Amino acid sequence: MSLYAIGDLHLHFQSEVKSKSQRRDRKWRKHEVKFSGACQSLLKEDDTLVLVGDHSWGRKLAECEEDFEYIRNLPGRKILIRGNHDQFWDAKKTGRLNELYQPELNFLQDSFEVYQDYAIVGTKGFTFEGPFYLDHRGRIFDWDRTEEAHSWKLIERELERLRRSFEAAKAGGFHKYIMFLHYPPTNIMERESGFTEMAEEYGAEQVIYAHSHGDLRYHDSIEGEMNGVQYHLVSGDYLQWVPKKILD
Ligand SMILES: [Fe+2]
Ligand SMILES: [Fe+2]
Repeated sequence: MSLYAIGDLHLHFQSEVKSKSQRRDRKWRKHEVKFSGACQSLLKEDDTLVLVGDHSWGRKLAECEEDFEYIRNLPGRKILIRGNHDQFWDAKKTGRLNELYQPELNFLQDSFEVYQDYAIVGTKGFTFEGPFYLDHRGRIFDWDRTEEAHSWKLIERELERLRRSFEAAKAGGFHKYIMFLHYPPTNIMERESGFTEMAEEYGAEQVIYAHSHGDLRYHDSIEGEMNGVQYHLVSGDYLQWVPKKILD
């Protein structure tokens, strides 16, 4: 029995791809074939796979059905975290998604899932991604202050959602946590954030995140150990479509 994770599948069986790199980059060519092949050879039916957001380009459920069917056909239990491109998923209506698709697909929001004696907690997260203004040497000397102010509101809301997930798990008697975010826990200017602080506060053993894809984005945030927490990027192109084992 193992726990695996990967993010940013950006499936599009019934919808239009909206990213240039996904249309042009060799890494994305037939990525859904590469990924399902990797899952079939790696995962067993008693394994758990956490999909860390940006599941589908579909804007509404009717445009996601074939993407969900693809996910449903992967081996093991599937848990989904919300990504910024998942327009089909209104956080406040997560209960409805679970009514429609459980037990095959489990949409995690303001709640937790159990893996052995661990609680799987998470939310989309958020981090300020600019625009940043660079000098002639490529160093950041300023950024869009209006966008930054807006970001803080989204970050606060996501921190509240994350705390609800942790508190639900804690109330359920759990004290071992694996924390999932779609967005990286920090942006390119930060060394820590409300998300890293919360991971440390609850003693999460690992923080798993995605969203950073394309070669230039892989090192936007924390990788490896910081203050006793292990951080791992699991965006699909970074992992070359092989899900990462998180726990045995
Ligand atoms: Fe993405
Ligand atoms: Fe994303």
